[in-house]
Amino acid sequence: MKKVIAANWKNNCSKDFINKYFSFFNANIKINQKSKKEIIFFPPDLYLDLVSQSIKDLSGINYGCQNLNINENNTTLTGGSTSAMLEDMNCDYVIIGHSETRENEFNKSLKSKILLCKKMNIIFCVGENSLERQNNQTLKKIFSQLDELIESYFDNMSIIIAYEPVWAIGSGETPTLSNISQTHKSIKKYIIQKLPSIKENDIIVLYGGSVTEKNAGSILKTDFVDGVLVGGASLMAEEFTKICNIEF
Ligand code: PGA
Repeated sequence: MKKVIAANWKNNCSKDFINKYFSFFNANIKINQKSKKEIIFFPPDLYLDLVSQSIKDLSGINYGCQNLNINENNTTLTGGSTSAMLEDMNCDYVIIGHSETRENEFNKSLKSKILLCKKMNIIFCVGENSLERQNNQTLKKIFSQLDELIESYFDNMSIIIAYEPVWAIGSGETPTLSNISQTHKSIKKYIIQKLPSIKENDIIVLYGGSVTEKNAGSILKTDFVDGVLVGGASLMAEEFTKICNIEF
């Protein structure tokens, strides 16, 4: 199975940053049609077009958006980006339910967002916070979040989950490799139980939270890990390129 290596740039960007970033990345990335990997960039929406132009000649490298907004009850939303607009920008992927945006959303809107994604592949984020971890509620929390996706499942939806423990994001801490492996295994098992038509190989589970050049290799080689979602370390062209060039 191919590995997915995704860069979540959050709200960090400028035109100059992108130009410098891709002049390094394009010159140093080792990827070809035989590579069993896919690299995905998630820039801020304002820079989607520039990123798409910067990577256009490289196969196996795609881009997407970090969220989408819905017009609940047909109201308008100043500053929002709708699925139609993001599809118009040819986004291949959309991140839904990242912990940094989840707090402002109700379950209802997450489900409505999922149902709008007929053309973009969803990367659905789940993960426990530190209190839930201390109280051994990790799987309970993750399963309840997975239910949001499962209840909105439609035919041909690709299932890509990012397991991102909230306490690991930007903290420099990560779960042990064995914890990551067990949690990913439980995520796959739970989805298959609830959606028996899905095969294990159809479920992609990425790990996210303080992934760096130093730990990416061992995380990527851990059982049940199908890729990584990288935040801070993806902002450094050299470091992210090294992560992308890891051989499996
Ligand atoms: P981090 O962020 O790699 O900086 O911890 C990951 C994320 O929030 O997706």
